Amino acid sequence: MAEPLIVVDRITFAYPGAASPVFQNFSFQLGPEDHLGLIGPNGSGKTTLLHLIMGLLRPQAGRIIIFGNEVKTEKDFVPVRQQIGLLFQNADDQLFCPTVLEDVAFGPLNQGKSPAAAKEIALATLERLGLSGFEDRVTYKLSGGEKRLVSLATVLAMQPRVLLLDEPTSGLDEKTKHRLIHIIQELHIPFVIVSHEPDFLHHTVHNCCHLHLDHCEIKPVMLEEIYHEKDKVPNRGATSCCFGGPDRLVNG
Ligand SMILES: Nc1ncnc2c1ncn2[C@@H]1O[C@H](COP(=O)(O)OP(=O)(O)OP(=O)(O)O)[C@@H](O)[C@H]1O
Ligand SMILES: [Mg+2]
Repeated sequence: MAEPLIVVDRITFAYPGAASPVFQNFSFQLGPEDHLGLIGPNGSGKTTLLHLIMGLLRPQAGRIIIFGNEVKTEKDFVPVRQQIGLLFQNADDQLFCPTVLEDVAFGPLNQGKSPAAAKEIALATLERLGLSGFEDRVTYKLSGGEKRLVSLATVLAMQPRVLLLDEPTSGLDEKTKHRLIHIIQELHIPFVIVSHEPDFLHHTVHNCCHLHLDHCEIKPVMLEEIYHEKDKVPNRGATSCCFGGPDRLVNG
């Protein structure tokens, strides 16, 4: 079996002052071919897991191994953040430059691309997302859905090896959602998508990992069984869902 790209190995994580941990002895893996949905109720830890993978939070116990290397310190996570693209749940956490072009070109520039190359990548990414003409727009004046798409552009412009998308469809209209489905279906990289939208996952992922607040349940389940949606349009391969993910244990 191919080496996993991301390994979360028996971690325990609690927010400071919290009465109980979000994760206890929790494990998760993402392989090079995986297109994984991450589902679970509000507060079950989906965003927290993505932030742990990116090193924005650190576990109190356990290991995180990315691209074969254990990552512990800020220095370890710097290259990780250049190769794993995280779409934040909240677009305002993602966008910080005055204009759209600056925001989208920021990643490529940070990766060492020349200003001309970064601009070219940014413009091409904006076009791919149907955002041509947005380059000089003032970021904070964009609508919620526009901010969502520009955020995605900032992530895709980095040409990541792995994508972590935290509720990418929130605030998007149906047409834009469909465009996003097409874009994701054309991605040839592994990804994790957090979403509360079964239909969207049905069209974009192969398997789902279902997080619960206080227990683990690992079993392959048809998406239809979870969502009772047997009659949806054909998708490209959403076949099963697993509860809890590999070796997930929460609160014992
Ligand atoms: N900065 C924080 N400080 C303290 N507790 C937090 C913090 N962020 C999240 N939590 C708590 O950690 C738990 C997991 O939160 P998280 O945001 O990961 O859930 P989620 O599954 O992404 O939820 P949602 O579907 O609402 O986005 C929740 O109980 C939440 O209240
Ligand atoms: Mg969340």
